Amino acid sequence: MSQKFELKNLATGKSTQLDVMSGSLGPDVLNISQLTKDMGVFTFDPGFMATASTESRITFIDGDAGELLYRGYPVAQLAERSNFLEVAQLLITGKLPTKAEYDAFANSITRHTMLNEHLLRFYQGFHHDAHPMAMVSAVVASMAAFYRDATDIGDPRQREIFAHRIIAKLPTIAAAAYKHTLGQPFVYPRNDLRYCANIMNMFFAVPCEPYAIDPVAAEALDLLFILHADHEQNASTSTVRLAGSTGTNPYAAISAGVASLWGPAHGGANEAVIDMLDEIGSVANIDKFLARVKDKNDHVRLMGFGHRVYKNFDPRAKIIREMCYRVLDKLGKGNGPMFELALKLEEIALKDDYFVSRKLYPNVDFYSGIIYSALGIPRSMFTVMFAIARTAGWVAHWQEMVTDPHMRIGRPRQLYTGPGKRDYVPFEQR
Ligand code: CMC
Repeated sequence: MSQKFELKNLATGKSTQLDVMSGSLGPDVLNISQLTKDMGVFTFDPGFMATASTESRITFIDGDAGELLYRGYPVAQLAERSNFLEVAQLLITGKLPTKAEYDAFANSITRHTMLNEHLLRFYQGFHHDAHPMAMVSAVVASMAAFYRDATDIGDPRQREIFAHRIIAKLPTIAAAAYKHTLGQPFVYPRNDLRYCANIMNMFFAVPCEPYAIDPVAAEALDLLFILHADHEQNASTSTVRLAGSTGTNPYAAISAGVASLWGPAHGGANEAVIDMLDEIGSVANIDKFLARVKDKNDHVRLMGFGHRVYKNFDPRAKIIREMCYRVLDKLGKGNGPMFELALKLEEIALKDDYFVSRKLYPNVDFYSGIIYSALGIPRSMFTVMFAIARTAGWVAHWQEMVTDPHMRIGRPRQLYTGPGKRDYVPFEQR
């Protein structure tokens, strides 16, 4: 028998019953959709601390166990045995593709990598020191103006073309933003290269000399992208869903997701971690820095630590930390002072009661910047790399939402605390 909760207003004695909804994994959820009708009240949950904003079949996180599943598959298995494009296809379609399906998908992504030349001219309007995330968000938004054939979100073929196009073009858009900041000529995508090798080439090749793609670097990037591909209803994904729930052009919704990802509490943390490590400078300064983090009057946070859902190790952080050893070694860079500093900082923080009592562990971004740096990717591009990977998740969630027959506009309510109704007062009487 399905469970029910009873909610009673102790002042009036009025009560209502709430249905309990059970998912396939994770805690049950109280269905409060009839609450306002039955009891005349809203619920209050700033930051969605205890609110499931949607039903979803894509990704599951067990925050206490430190587990992350994409369509049921543990992320560690995918990181070890799959590749980013296959993971993207898995997220979007819900199943591991056959070899033929995978080849068709990979081929379609490869054939959509070029940017319209008119779109490329947009970059000329940006100052050379514009943040790449601002450029990427703006150029993705302007794709809504270019691709009018994506406006019928009810058409499965249009949705598919949109999905392939945005996953294919995000690297090209990102590389163009990077080349713009350097003042170097834009490098066109190469269809003979795999997804991440092509990114390395577009970022680092120049027309005046040959560029050899390091397979270790391309492989490391692919692994990072798998780890970043989706993370259920995080802020940027929820932003894509909220924007998309109005029926807006999907490129516009993705652009909103890029903007949301940029913040330091979310995807911008990878850049902030390296800034923080620079600021700390050496192991000798860790204690002083942590004292500032613990001081409530000094709004400093240990960046790359803590997570709304994980109250245990972020499984992605564990994989990336291991990857740091391997990649730095393979690239012949040794552990490097920054990695050594991060390891020591983690070790000290994990023994400190402030972090232990609040269940604050390293998250995915604590070590990702160290790898990006080792690959030669500049700091301002770290969050852009995250955006390229997360596009797969955004597309999967957008598609899940718009194909749901029960889709409705996302429209939260509020607890109003402003002034009561009052009359306008002309200037001379104020
Ligand atoms: N450094 C110091 N204190 C922290 C930190 C931190 N990084 N994170 C949380 N706390 C403290 C916070 O001050 C609060 O303490 P108290 O109970 O005494 O007031 C307690 O821990 C709970 O924190 P919260 O801010 O209520 O937690 P939240 O779930 O709202 O925030 C978070 C989650 C990720 C925004 C936060 O942990 C944070 O700001 N971390 C640093 C930024 C970061 O690394 N972000 C990347 C997240 S993972 C990548 C992604 O998915 O985007």
